[in-house]
Amino acid sequence: MQAGKLEMPESAPRIHYFTDTEGFARDLSKRAGVGASRVRVHEFPDGESSVRVRGPAGRHAWLVRTLHQPNAKLVEVALAADALRRAGSERVTLVAPYLPYMRQDKVFAPGEAISQRVIASWIAKSFDGLATLEPHLHRLHSLTELIPGAISLSAAPLFADWVRSQPAPLLLVGPDEESEPWVRAIAGEAGCEWIVGQKRRSGDRSVRVRFDHIPSLQRALIVDDIASTGMTLASAAEALREGGVRRVEAAVVHAIFSRGALGRIRAGGVRRCFSCDSIPHRSNQLSSAGLFARALTRDLG
Ligand code: R5P
Repeated sequence: MQAGKLEMPESAPRIHYFTDTEGFARDLSKRAGVGASRVRVHEFPDGESSVRVRGPAGRHAWLVRTLHQPNAKLVEVALAADALRRAGSERVTLVAPYLPYMRQDKVFAPGEAISQRVIASWIAKSFDGLATLEPHLHRLHSLTELIPGAISLSAAPLFADWVRSQPAPLLLVGPDEESEPWVRAIAGEAGCEWIVGQKRRSGDRSVRVRFDHIPSLQRALIVDDIASTGMTLASAAEALREGGVRRVEAAVVHAIFSRGALGRIRAGGVRRCFSCDSIPHRSNQLSSAGLFARALTRDLG
């Protein structure tokens, strides 16, 4: 290939990934049987980014990047979508295992924006499609209400498989009412007892979870879509232990884990905490690439 020229677009889909999501992208490439190449990012001294896609561009490009700590990443994926179209891609799908800004889904205090809508419409303008895992949709029924055609994957089968691999009985616990449909789905697949708590958050790091009734089981797994400060898991674990559960574990989809979160979770009495691979973290244990590979290849056709 001549310097400065891109190869002709490939008729098969192709993965174009950012380095911070390389592990997931390689796993997806293997499972979907789709080639992959890296998107280069250069940061200028003034903080602006330039991105460069390397050929061949997929006629259908799957642009893979998970979007925690999202602000610069959102700009860079939009730049990469433009670069891919200029390189010959006719369709660009954003594959973002973690979709950010979904929690600010209403005006909680006067003067705020509804970030969820702003970011979703920004993504819808830059991309022809989106595939993501377990987006936080508290007040919406489906992600397609925000982004037409978006593929929203449930992580429930991954958690259900894990629960089935464990000795019974195990109590499945959701920390708040929002988690109920999800906890119910996992428990239904895994065939175990479940409860959900009531959560009151009065500040970023001030959370209280309580349960009306805790069945007398020795072991519980708390599941949640996101752990950020870790306060939700810590408080739920404290309540379970006070209620007589001896061994409490926790599993989350998106391991945001801000500074000190794992320590807080442990201090709340959680013996083990693990996560899906939607955000690279040392707690990653459940691989979601197979779910994406199946959905994206089905989408082709
Ligand atoms: C919120 O409703 C989510 O489902 C999580 O429970 C929440 O984001 C966890 O946050 P943190 O770890 O800061 O308590």
